[in-house]
Amino acid sequence: MKTEVVAASECARAVALLRGGDVVALPTETVYGLAADAFNTTAVARIFDAKERPRFDPLIVHLPDWDWLEKVADLAGQDRKLILQLADAFWPGPFTLVLPKREIVPDIVTAGLETVAVRISAHPVFAEIIRAFGSPLAAPSANRFGRISPTAATHVLQELNGRVPLIVDGGSTKHGLESTIVALRNARIEVLRRGPITEERLAEFGEVVVVEAVQCPEVPGQLPSHYAPKTPLLLLDDPTAFIPAPGKRYGLLSWTSAGASFSDVRHLSKRQDLIEAATNLFRYLRELDNVGLDLIVAEELPQEGLGAAINDRLRRASHR
Ligand code: TXA
Ligand code: MG
Repeated sequence: MKTEVVAASECARAVALLRGGDVVALPTETVYGLAADAFNTTAVARIFDAKERPRFDPLIVHLPDWDWLEKVADLAGQDRKLILQLADAFWPGPFTLVLPKREIVPDIVTAGLETVAVRISAHPVFAEIIRAFGSPLAAPSANRFGRISPTAATHVLQELNGRVPLIVDGGSTKHGLESTIVALRNARIEVLRRGPITEERLAEFGEVVVVEAVQCPEVPGQLPSHYAPKTPLLLLDDPTAFIPAPGKRYGLLSWTSAGASFSDVRHLSKRQDLIEAATNLFRYLRELDNVGLDLIVAEELPQEGLGAAINDRLRRASHR
C-alpha cells in the first residue's frame, strides 16, 4: 500500500476514505491519531492491524460533538453532574473520560470492556473531518504498538509507511502528550493516564487519585513498558553523576543539565517551561533514537503539573 501525506486542505479525501471503511492518520492537539469509523468493526480491525496493537487494548472514541456523548455512553447512575462539569471544562480538548458504554459501541473498540473512553478533539483539522464524517471515530495514537507517539506527520510516516493510505498533515501537535484519561468512581476522579490536564486542575472539581500502573494492568497505555525508543533509555534525577564508558555514544535528554560529556544533547526547554518541554518530548526522543546512540540518558523533571505526566512517559520509555 502506498502512503500519501496530504495537506489539511485535502480533508475531503480523508472523509471519503473513512466512509469507505479505511483508516486515516489525522492530527489532534495531543498527538497524531489513526482514525476509523468507530461503528464499522472491519474498519476498526484495520487500526489494530496497522499498529500491530493487541486486541485487548481498547481505543478512544472521538465524538463529533456533545450530542454524541449520551449516544455512546450511559450516564445514568453515574456521577452525572461531575461528568458534565468536567466535560464542559475540558472539551473540546486533551481530555478523555472513561464511562459505561452503550450497546452501539462495538466490542472490538472497547476490547470487550463495559466502559468506553470518549473525547472531543479541539484540533481544527480533526474537528472539520469528524464533523463532515458525522459520526464517532475510534483513534489511538498513530504509532506502532509500544512505540513513541507521533507529534508530526513525518513521525507517522516513519511508523506506518505502507500500512495506511493517507496521513493528513496538520503540522506539529500543540500539547505533544496524549490526553489525560480519567474515570469517575464514587464522586472521585481517578486519573488512569496523566496528560495535559493536570491533577492540580482536576482537583478543582473533586478528590483526585492517580491510579498507578501496577494497580491498573488492564490499561495498556499504563503498561510499565510503553512509549519506548529502540535505544535503551536510562532515567536519572542527576545526569551529571553519569559516568560514560569509553568508546560508547551517549545522548542526553536534558531538563537543566548542560550535558558536557554527551555526544548528542536535546534540551526539553531552555527556559524550563513545562508546556514547551511536553511539546518537545516525543520529537526529541525520536531524534535521539535515530542517531545510533548506545544509550539515551534522560533527566527527570520536577514531579509537579505537566512534569508528572512527562516523567510518567520517561519512566515507561526506560522500562524494558
Ligand atoms: O491524546 C490521545 O488520547 C490520543 C489522540 C489520538 O486522541 N489517543 C491515544 O490513544 O493516546 P491510545 O490508544 O494510544 O491510548 C489510549 C489509552 C490506552 O492506553 C487504552 O488502554 C486506554 O486509553 N483506554 C481506552 N479505552 C479504555 C477504557 N474503556 N478503560 C480504560 N482505559 C481505556
Ligand atoms: Mg498510544
